[in-house]
Amino acid sequence: MLPSLTLQFLCYYSPFQRTNCLSATTSTPVCQSASCLRKTMDRLSENARLMIVSDLDHTMVDHHDPENLSLLRFNALWEANYRSNSLLVFSTGRSPTLYKELRKEKPMLTPDITIMSVGTEITYGNSMEPDNGWAEFLNQKWDRNIVSEETSKITELTLQSKTEQRPHKVSFYVQKEKAEEITRSLSSCLKERGLDVKIIYSGGTDLDILPQGAGKGKALAYLHDKFKAEGKLPKNTLVCGDSGNDAELFTIPDVHGVMVSNAMEELLQWHAIYAKNNPKIIHAKERCASGIIQAIGHFNIGPSISPRDVTDLSDSTLDNFDPAYEVVKFFLFYERWRLAEIGKSELYMANLKAVCSNSGILVHPSGIEKHLHDCVNSLRTCYGDKRGQAFRVWVDQVLPVQVGSDAWLVKFKKWEQSGGERVCCLTTALLSSKDVTVADGLTWVHVHQTWLNEASPSSSADWLF
Ligand code: GLC
Ligand code: MG
Repeated sequence: MLPSLTLQFLCYYSPFQRTNCLSATTSTPVCQSASCLRKTMDRLSENARLMIVSDLDHTMVDHHDPENLSLLRFNALWEANYRSNSLLVFSTGRSPTLYKELRKEKPMLTPDITIMSVGTEITYGNSMEPDNGWAEFLNQKWDRNIVSEETSKITELTLQSKTEQRPHKVSFYVQKEKAEEITRSLSSCLKERGLDVKIIYSGGTDLDILPQGAGKGKALAYLHDKFKAEGKLPKNTLVCGDSGNDAELFTIPDVHGVMVSNAMEELLQWHAIYAKNNPKIIHAKERCASGIIQAIGHFNIGPSISPRDVTDLSDSTLDNFDPAYEVVKFFLFYERWRLAEIGKSELYMANLKAVCSNSGILVHPSGIEKHLHDCVNSLRTCYGDKRGQAFRVWVDQVLPVQVGSDAWLVKFKKWEQSGGERVCCLTTALLSSKDVTVADGLTWVHVHQTWLNEASPSSSADWLF
């Protein structure tokens, strides 16, 4: 039995306190970054097959997995099966500064929407266009000066770094034993001063003070309303988290939810009290991104076999040509070949040549043109050259466009990590199904690569394709 104090403490983010952030207040937030949201919506010809809303630290990203295997498994699954018809949303407690740092450290995909600073900042697309309407909405009954003034009187609160103090988020560290009491007293004192705040304790150490209308759950409800207004509510939403600030996500109507196996005590306690009988929420057996994959399978909301778990990639029989799957598969093969994780068989080289058009060309990022068949020959000599090394390849934002009855233009980012260096090429590939049977897959006709601005190598000599 939990002590009543804990119950009260957990109530700060209980579903019973839930109010609809759009209707319970006088004004409805208006998105002023309409064009960017529009692009996000227009990319999908119909309602998203799946919207994943995932926390990052210890949920999508496993900080105890230096090889990032579960993240890479998720990446391959997402790009092969979901990217073109689904929505990826990251929802993190991190500020934009720390979020961008994490992106440099870990092989993360690019989300369609990024929610940062515990649901107080929403941005769209690759350019991370901020949703100013959301920020404006959060000004209600909020004054961060008053929050600073009142919290400065509490000696047990240690202010977090400057980067984590945001317009609608004031963050501290506090000892676990002190958290409940401070939360209670701060809450009533700020109420007396005319504010309506939400206090969230996460990770057994972080204390965030936000406007009442903010939080990861409220931000998701706001996005759902926007998509609904356009008739594009995702067919399924899966929320994923591990700690206290994720609890709200699980209170949004109709969502599926996964608490990853390594979820923190505070989230599990919250679940035990408020959501125990909800069959749409599971506590995964697997850690982090692998727990997310497990949940997709458990709820049966789409494919849940990552191409990384398929040993024999040539064995996959597809009902339809699938250019995204083809791209993911090809670069997985490439990684395994260089790591010597597959046998050195001439058959592979022959198959590769068979799927490259005779006159096919690669425009190498250095600006040199090469025949695709010559590229395959160079690959032959690279067998096992990365054996035993920290060598990983992944693709991001694989977006095929059908440009003819038998042709697809596929745009994607191809990343390669070798030891400490990480490089990326923006890649465009023309793939064709002309004159081949489904079993043969698609033919690569033309590939064009350009270094990604912030991820070009010191020397381009090592880049194959
Ligand atoms: C992230 C943020 C931090 C916040 C914590 C919990 O670690 O950087 O400011 O307190 O998430 O929400
Ligand atoms: Mg987390």
